[in-house]
Amino acid sequence: MSQVPQRNRAEWQQLDSQHHLHPFTDFKDLAKKGSRIITRAEGAYIWDVDGNKILDGMAGLWCVNVGYGRKELADAAYQQLMELPYYNNFFQTSHPPAIELSRQLTELAPGFDQVFFTGSGSEANDTVIRMIWRYWQLKDQPNRRVIISRKNGYHGSTLGGASLGGFEAVHKQMGATVPDITHINQPYWYGEGQDISPEEFGLARANELREAIERIGPDKVAAFIGEPIQGAGGVIIPPSTYWPEIQKICDEYGILLVTDEVICGFGRTGKWFGAEYYGIKPDLMPVAKGITSGYVPLGGVMVSHKVSEVLMGEAGEFYHGFTYSGHPVACSVAMANLKILKEEKLVERIAEDVGPYLQQKLAGLKDHPLVGEVRGLGFFGAIELVKDKASHTRFDSAQGVGTQCRDHCFSNGIVMRAVGDTMIIAPPFILTHAQIDELVEKAWKCLDLTQASVKG
Ligand SMILES: Cc1ncc(COP(=O)(O)O)c(C=O)c1O
Repeated sequence: MSQVPQRNRAEWQQLDSQHHLHPFTDFKDLAKKGSRIITRAEGAYIWDVDGNKILDGMAGLWCVNVGYGRKELADAAYQQLMELPYYNNFFQTSHPPAIELSRQLTELAPGFDQVFFTGSGSEANDTVIRMIWRYWQLKDQPNRRVIISRKNGYHGSTLGGASLGGFEAVHKQMGATVPDITHINQPYWYGEGQDISPEEFGLARANELREAIERIGPDKVAAFIGEPIQGAGGVIIPPSTYWPEIQKICDEYGILLVTDEVICGFGRTGKWFGAEYYGIKPDLMPVAKGITSGYVPLGGVMVSHKVSEVLMGEAGEFYHGFTYSGHPVACSVAMANLKILKEEKLVERIAEDVGPYLQQKLAGLKDHPLVGEVRGLGFFGAIELVKDKASHTRFDSAQGVGTQCRDHCFSNGIVMRAVGDTMIIAPPFILTHAQIDELVEKAWKCLDLTQASVKG
């Protein structure tokens, strides 16, 4: 029986602002506006408390990849809750769901032997930091401490994750960040590189890694971390030259390569992992979100043979872990989720069918007067809103044009996220061609409404 009482919108909004602090939110501002209350979901749609049906172009928060209302996932959770709702993996104990899921995950990622489970993507990235430092201690190179990340990258909201992330405003608000983390520029061609070709720009931005290593001292650098495609930073798709060059530089200096697969992992690019899409071989891969399609929280770090053989050697105890590392219910739901992805060939579908169809349809939005660039790959899309199409001049950020567009979207039956003035989509993998048509038609309409509201 549901534990949630029936209330109307006003009642929920009032209680929400009274008692509930939201993530990444200006609390006062939200209390003034009131939250949108979402009460149920099915397939690719969510419904608000007033009964409005909205096509979810963001798969929740880049996670509900198999869509809402999958009974298989609910059944897996229920059965596991009845059989073994919880047990830890700390003191020489383990349980079948964690063991079997780690086996299945390593089967999906050749070259990866082991998985360290966490409760979220942020915890996975904190684990990455701890593992990198431990790895170099065990390799008798404890001075290799520095982890190089990127500006405008996102790696979570714990102290470690937020320090790895490259959001200046976040670091400023924190006041201090985890030491031995430094940031280089991102491979954002449309925003920062239009004076040279994308290929040249990709190489130039990759070369910043080499410059940083030389500046810091090659014997002090431990690792490089990046999202294969930056998600929260605005769907930044690197030029084709970028990742192969990064791989080359990591190999040349013998530093660890980490691809943060929290968004890219489990199919969004049309391959199981972003690293696979770009043909690179990371040493560690943090994962979360799509591992359970967001139905229950789970994260982890996939550990390559190269790192695991060091951690598994004469290493002594690794002083790290979480109460919910390898939670049995989350692991069971993850396995049911992987089964759906495999049986329904949802990843192949993105590579061969709905991915290309979505990209073809999205590309049409380029003709809208408000749109400077449309870019996409697999089931990722980004639409850059500009004041002047020819010169790519942006709006004054104070105008909040992206937020205006996001509001029009919600009121007109689709979810798109705004990152500044870049509109983002990352829909569930189960979208049909007709739903892709619906998404793009509504997006066009909302661009029209935004244009009218910006002018007006
Ligand atoms: C690439 C990436 N890494 C890490 C995280 C953090 O994951 P979580 O919110 O589960 O802690 C996110 C979340 O959006 C992400 O996009």
